[in-house]
Amino acid sequence: MPRETFTDAIALLKADHRKVEDLFEQFEKATSSSSKQKLAHAICTELKIHTLIEEEIFYPAFRGKIESDTLDEAYVEHDGAKVLVNDIEAGSPQDDFYDAKVKVLSEEIKHHVHEEEMPSEGMFAQCRKTDVDLVVLRDQMLARKEELLAQAKSAGLPLAQPTAVHLIAA
Ligand SMILES: [Fe+2]
Ligand SMILES: [Fe+2]
Repeated sequence: MPRETFTDAIALLKADHRKVEDLFEQFEKATSSSSKQKLAHAICTELKIHTLIEEEIFYPAFRGKIESDTLDEAYVEHDGAKVLVNDIEAGSPQDDFYDAKVKVLSEEIKHHVHEEEMPSEGMFAQCRKTDVDLVVLRDQMLARKEELLAQAKSAGLPLAQPTAVHLIAA
């Protein structure tokens, strides 16, 4: 992946957002179980990698520099999405609620992306006003992303782990 493709860390994350939106659109149009399964797997892989690079690298770089509520809510929104990601990955298109789960996941992600990209008070707009070097951050995230992509292709990625939300066993 050529580093020149993205001007900075925010451009990299926005490109990820566009990619997953496109995959959700393709899923909506898909009719066969095999293409639904393939697209759902691609969506879940993208989201696992994206939430990991944000939570490991991007969000911590801005702790104390932007509104805490913005960051805290982002972690909780990620956790909500992770529940559906793990469930969709474990299921198959023939299962009850499968399409509904993918649809609700797309709506959760749409809301979350809006919170990140919203002009002026959104997370990224707040991040741009800080002194954090977004180019250094881009390189750290690209390196981690390449590592995770390689893992996804070889052993596969582990289950998405919640960060803020506690999973209560019934
Ligand atoms: Fe994001
Ligand atoms: Fe996010």
